[in-house]
Amino acid sequence: MHRRDFIRVLGGGAILAATGCAPAGSDPRAAWNHPGAGEADIRRKALAWAILAPNPHNMQPWIVDLSVPDTITLCIDRTRLLPVTDPFNRQITIGCGAFLELLMMALAAQGQAATAELFPDGEPQPLLDDRPLFRVRIARAATTPDPLFAQVLQRRTNREAYTDTPVTAAAVAALRASAPEGAIGLTVETAPARVALLRDLVYQGGVIEAHTPAAHQESVARTFIGAGDVAAHPWGISLDNGMMTALNAAGVLTKAKMATPGTVAYDQSLKYLKTGADTAQGFVWLVTPDNSRASQILAGRAYVRANLAAAGQGLAMQPWSQGLQEYATQKPLFDRLHRELAPAGGRLQMLSRIGYPKAELRPAPRRGLAAQLKRA
Ligand SMILES: Cc1cc2nc3c(=O)[nH]c(=O)nc-3n(C[C@H](O)[C@H](O)[C@H](O)COP(=O)(O)O)c2cc1C
Repeated sequence: MHRRDFIRVLGGGAILAATGCAPAGSDPRAAWNHPGAGEADIRRKALAWAILAPNPHNMQPWIVDLSVPDTITLCIDRTRLLPVTDPFNRQITIGCGAFLELLMMALAAQGQAATAELFPDGEPQPLLDDRPLFRVRIARAATTPDPLFAQVLQRRTNREAYTDTPVTAAAVAALRASAPEGAIGLTVETAPARVALLRDLVYQGGVIEAHTPAAHQESVARTFIGAGDVAAHPWGISLDNGMMTALNAAGVLTKAKMATPGTVAYDQSLKYLKTGADTAQGFVWLVTPDNSRASQILAGRAYVRANLAAAGQGLAMQPWSQGLQEYATQKPLFDRLHRELAPAGGRLQMLSRIGYPKAELRPAPRRGLAAQLKRA
């Protein structure tokens, strides 16, 4: 019965036509249209770009304090964390590093030099708390823009299947050149035997998550399906193209079914992951010498720079993080990935697949800056 529903809906053009549009007046992707246009405050103008940063599960856990002149302070919204799959807030901190990098780039694009002080009130361990992650001070001095900034609106996380075109040497070089200064190792791998191994290992991470109920449920709970649900929740993982919206309207693709082994929705999610893994044409990973909060911020800065460099080369990219996560069922894979990818030691902070996209993607939703400003 489930499968018949699925097939009927796949052929159901009328349903697609009827349900493919978001309700009028609530565009969850509006933040990508001319970010910062019309803003007089250079900080707000820059922040309109920073909120476009990649971040785990698109939780956008950022709270920005603008109460001190010429200063931007970032704290975390502790209701927007991922306690099961990110138990030490490592990945959330990486997302804050990506935010910082785009913020500094956006200030530089306005000709504003700035300095960033990390964890000005101390490094929160083992969990993030209410203390700031960074404080950026605008220096009122000249600076040069970063060429990668031109790619911010093109950058995506692309979870679709990629083409079988090999990654060019120029693209590999651009990714390598994107690494920021600091103690971080960026490796790009395109050798077929290693790529085959990594395709298998990353897929294993997805399967482990799917078979770990608490981890799987954390992802499902943060997934929104259908145009209306995504418009109402401009964060999390958004499944709102015409097909997904139609499958949801027909009751085939629902959160409950995604969470239930044996349903078409559950099986198709794993199949989708497998196709994604199998079409990877290369992998990029980042290793830091330690796992301090500062290293996590640096990893986020490096990740978004690599993602921007990929966009500049027409290359698609998707982090594949399950095997890097610190919950018990991932431990054997976590150890294996570290043996393979960080044999000299250090912490594997990000692992992503790369390849060429089959089609253009819409950007992921954003909550908008107003929702993330600290109220006085
Ligand atoms: C630390 C970190 C880990 C991530 N892990 C994954 C992942 O395992 N799988 C995935 O599809 N996307 C992953 N992402 C990408 C986010 O889901 C993505 O940035 C977010 O949904 C917003 O979409 P965008 O990058 O297209 O703006 C990760 C991003 C970060 C910063």
